[in-house]
This record gives sequence, C-alpha cells and structure tokens, in this order.
Amino acid sequence: MATQRTLILIKPDGMQRRLAGKLIARLEDKSLKLVGLKLMQITPELAKQHYAEHIEKPFYPGLEQFITSAPVIAICAEGPSAISVVRGMMGSTNGAEAPPGTIRGDYGISRQYNLMHGSDGPEAAAKEISIYFKPEELIDYEATLGGWVCADDEK
Ligand code: RTP
Ligand code: MG
Repeated sequence: MATQRTLILIKPDGMQRRLAGKLIARLEDKSLKLVGLKLMQITPELAKQHYAEHIEKPFYPGLEQFITSAPVIAICAEGPSAISVVRGMMGSTNGAEAPPGTIRGDYGISRQYNLMHGSDGPEAAAKEISIYFKPEELIDYEATLGGWVCADDEK
C-alpha cells in the first residue's frame, strides 16, 4: 500500500441535487485528505481532454452535454491506495447495478447521472489532476489526525 492522489468530480447531478456536502463528507469519513478543491464549469474542450478515451464512442455527445450542463466540484484527495479506495466507494458505473453502501448505489439509479467521477488508475489520476489543478492549487499540509488514520508502514 502507498499514498496516492486521485481526481474526483462531484458531477452536475450531484450539484443540482444538493448532495455535494454529503458526498464530500463520505470522503472525509473514509479518512481521505482533501488537498485540492474547487467549484468549476467544465467546458466542451475540458470534457474532451478528460474523456479523451471515450470521444469516438456513440455515447460521447450525451456525456459531454451532461458533464458541461452545470457546475462540478473538482477534488484532489490523498490517502493510502486512494485511487482504488475511491473507485470502490463509488461502485460500478450504473447506479441501478451498484450495490447499496456505495455512493452510486445509495444515491442513484442511472448510468449517466452517476454523481461522482474517480480516476481509474495511476496514469489517469496523474493526467486528470494536472488538467483540473495547477500545482500551486494543491496544498501539501500536515493533517493533525494523520497519525491516527493508518500505521507508518501503510503510508
Ligand atoms: P467516470 O469515468 O465518469 O468516473 O465513470 P466510470 O469510470 O464508471 O465509467 P466510464 O466507462 O469511464 O464512462 C464514463 C462515463 O460515460 C458514461 N457512459 N455511458 N451509454 C453508455 O454505454 C455509457 N458508458 C459509459 C457514464 O456516464 C460514465 O460515467
Ligand atoms: Mg471512467
């Protein structure tokens, strides 16, 4: 296990449904450290950068329309195995199939309106963090409770 950073988005449906506070609380409850956070509007250009691997797929126009339709909150979160931890917390893409206890399973019932994005691997995390945050927007602070979150050899 090693400390990782991952890029999370609270998607337009999460914002419009006023679930942002609850979703951020779930990240904090899990002991993830928030090192970057901002409210922003995704442009079509940014959507194409983020979802580059999906541009040629038939669902891309709808995905771009959705992700640019309202503000999002972009978050960079840090913790042991943060990338897979957040993917597990979100559950599978379609909320109708995601198990109860996951974010998509608890709050949604849609494949597109699935509330949260999380990077799916280290390469995607590095790319996505760099497109949403400038280096100076990521704050490298000491979390006071950090010593109570995991053992030193888990960091
Ligand atoms: P995300 O990237 O948004 O965190 O979601 P994900 O990894 O669970 O799913 P991914 O395969 O990366 O797909 C990105 C988004 O595209 C929409 N999608 N639609 N119509 C379809 O077959 C289809 N497949 C994917 C979903 O909104 C998904 O979140
Ligand atoms: Mg994905």
